[in-house]
Amino acid sequence: MASLFKKKQKRLLGIDISSTSVKLMELSQLSNGYRVEAYAVEPLPENAVVEKNINDIEGVGEAISKLVTKSRSKLKQAAVAVSGSSVITKSIQMTSGLSDEEMENQIQVEADQYIPYPLDEVAIDFDVVGPSEKGDGLVDVLLAACRRENVELREDALELGGLESRAVDVEAFSLERAFQLLIPELEPSEDGLTVAVVDIGHTMTTLSVLNDGKTIYTREQLFGGKQLTEEIMRRYGMTQAEAGLAKKQGGLPDDYASEVLEPFKEAVVQQVTRSLQFFFAASPYNDVDYILLAGGTASIPGLAQMVKEKIGTNTMVANPFASMTLSNKVNASNLTNDAPALMIACGLALRSFERGKY
Ligand SMILES: Nc1ncnc2c1ncn2[C@@H]1O[C@H](COP(=O)(O)OP(=O)(O)OP(=O)(O)O)[C@@H](O)[C@H]1O
Ligand SMILES: [Mg+2]
Repeated sequence: MASLFKKKQKRLLGIDISSTSVKLMELSQLSNGYRVEAYAVEPLPENAVVEKNINDIEGVGEAISKLVTKSRSKLKQAAVAVSGSSVITKSIQMTSGLSDEEMENQIQVEADQYIPYPLDEVAIDFDVVGPSEKGDGLVDVLLAACRRENVELREDALELGGLESRAVDVEAFSLERAFQLLIPELEPSEDGLTVAVVDIGHTMTTLSVLNDGKTIYTREQLFGGKQLTEEIMRRYGMTQAEAGLAKKQGGLPDDYASEVLEPFKEAVVQQVTRSLQFFFAASPYNDVDYILLAGGTASIPGLAQMVKEKIGTNTMVANPFASMTLSNKVNASNLTNDAPALMIACGLALRSFERGKY
């Protein structure tokens, strides 16, 4: 009987196509919270994705296919994200009470005011945020636009990997969604909760500052774990694959900690400091309540502690799964290790539980 009243929504896999790997996340929602049903990470061939652009669609498709097999998930529908310089987001105001179709028509007509690309090359999406402070009878609408090619390459890669794309998101929104799970563990100050999330990936470091759960600033820099991998390759004569593995599993010569890892950690602290300075210069803020480290490089032992000591701000490694239960398909210690790199995949999987989103 229950199913008559509680319509079961189809769940979506979160698929994060990043520059070094593809990542899969399947979540389900139980009465006492979320459960990780399945997850996996599969490396990508070198240069298959460069700075968020898919260069080698077959390579990505093949990796997705392996990823799905590895995860043992049965779901076939997925959400993916676009990001980077090709994505434009903008908050606009519209008359309240319009139907979705009326809004869509009006946005199509007015879009050339907001979007600096030829409209036939652009995919547009919008979301009504709520009543606007800018006037009675107005609603704030969040507009997201991106080159159609960017979306299509992701959809095609998924299809090659045996999945169907059901939702295309923007990375910043996925991050925001995953971040909501971390809020209960954080203590706000008088002017709300201001958190700097620093995603240190392989090639990119993205600073996102959120105030009360909403993104107020983002900035990307070319910096990441690649620097450390390259230093290991150079110093110990290893291939990229060997160096990548050694970073995670250890077994490097004795001088590694002091001669290679420590200077890299110092460089991370410098990057975080500099990114924050850019934020402070561009905003009325001169402090954040917390720094959360995300991205694979955040897993380096002792890094959060070092950032905390040098910058003087409470710093933690982001783990959106801390209060979730796990299915027996999921290895708990692997998940804890990979957690900071899975923020985007997690935020994408969470779209399954947002009504009317797809
Ligand atoms: N336990 C670990 N210790 C040190 N480095 C790690 C560990 N786990 C992963 N990494 C590093 O994290 C990086 C990958 O992180 P992540 O998956 O966030 O990157 P990405 O999203 O693919 O890259 P980008 O954000 O640049 O597109 C690699 O440099 C990898 O070597
Ligand atoms: Mg990344």
